Amino acid sequence: MKTYLVTGGAGFIGSNFVHYVLSHHDDVKVVNVDSLTYAGNLENLAAVSEDERYVFVHADICDRSRMRSLVDEFDPDYVVNFAAESHVDRSIENPSVFADTNVLGTISLLDAVRDAWMGADGPGERKYLQVSTDEVYGTLSLDEPDTFFREDTPLSPHSPYSASKASADLFVQAYADTYGLPINITRCSNNYGPYQFPEKLIPLMIHNAQSHEALPVYGDGLNVRDWLYVEDHCKAIDLVLRKGRVGEVYNVGGHNERSNMYIVERIIAELAERLDDPAICTSLIRHVEDRKGHDRRYGIAPDKIKEELGWEPETAFEDGIARTISWYLDNQEWVEHVTSGTYQQYFEHMYGNRKVLS
Ligand SMILES: NC(=O)c1ccc[n+]([C@@H]2O[C@H](COP(=O)([O-])OP(=O)(O)OC[C@H]3O[C@@H](n4cnc5c(N)ncnc54)[C@H](O)[C@@H]3O)[C@@H](O)[C@H]2O)c1
Repeated sequence: MKTYLVTGGAGFIGSNFVHYVLSHHDDVKVVNVDSLTYAGNLENLAAVSEDERYVFVHADICDRSRMRSLVDEFDPDYVVNFAAESHVDRSIENPSVFADTNVLGTISLLDAVRDAWMGADGPGERKYLQVSTDEVYGTLSLDEPDTFFREDTPLSPHSPYSASKASADLFVQAYADTYGLPINITRCSNNYGPYQFPEKLIPLMIHNAQSHEALPVYGDGLNVRDWLYVEDHCKAIDLVLRKGRVGEVYNVGGHNERSNMYIVERIIAELAERLDDPAICTSLIRHVEDRKGHDRRYGIAPDKIKEELGWEPETAFEDGIARTISWYLDNQEWVEHVTSGTYQQYFEHMYGNRKVLS
């Protein structure tokens, strides 16, 4: 029996991870700690809300005493920190909330597990895993397609978002070096798949194209990202928790480098065909002023996780994008709630009359 304490489990990747763990293991308990910011949506977890192996706790990771009491109460084997402000554009508008959640929130969790685990009995098999990003490595050039981010690539973040994630990674590493805390850090490329909030590229394009709205593309649209299907990412995290060497960083990449223009054109083609709608076409594309400090290319070499743990991305981009489009077409109510803000009433509806656990 393993207990996972997952933070940010109502967000995109976190909710996919909760589903992944509950559907791949019988002998688990999953405690989802989420403060439900604009990006947290309990509708993502409606299918497991009655599962007795799953518990939701409405709490902020920056609340230090609460984090400590949750670690004491649930005594997790694994703490997986997904909770973050995650949108680069928002970090350019308002950097300080990124420092609060991504840096101070991480320290709050690290303190909670250090104080609970590093007593006389030691941590045993317990582990803290920080979900980080390839953006901490900075940017790669389009002219050197054979250069990739490796685990020992120096950290060189450019946006307030990536600076906050890099800073958090350094604290995680420092807690390992200073206190012997058993940790892993995973650094993944851009994820896509079900339950992604439609401010991010792929769900935004699917949503706008369907309703014949403009498709805004930053600059020339040639910025390249390495796209990773979210379920492949969840599998990697679970594998690192269970089998990864303590103290190690693992890069998780999709071997799927694509330009933003490729992604947008692919979504247009797929949607136009499926909906038999010629109005979904490239004339909807609008090139808009580029994002400030826009990194040109991210590319990950996931060699270490492949060699040590046997993980490889299993979902080819063409399959993943087709599955993702199907999911959004089949879940119009979810999209409608998210885009109208109705999802924020779901908490009250689902949990308003329930006993609050701790
Ligand atoms: N989405 C990607 O492509 C991607 C790529 C690389 C790394 N990551 C990292 O993966 C993690 C998850 O990303 P995501 O896309 O699922 O993010 P998301 O924005 O969809 O979800 C974040 C979740 O964290 C919660 N949260 C925010 N602040 C909190 C706080 N103070 N206390 C408790 N909960 C809080 C939100 O309510 C939300 O449920 C993040 O750490 C992000 O940096 C994401």
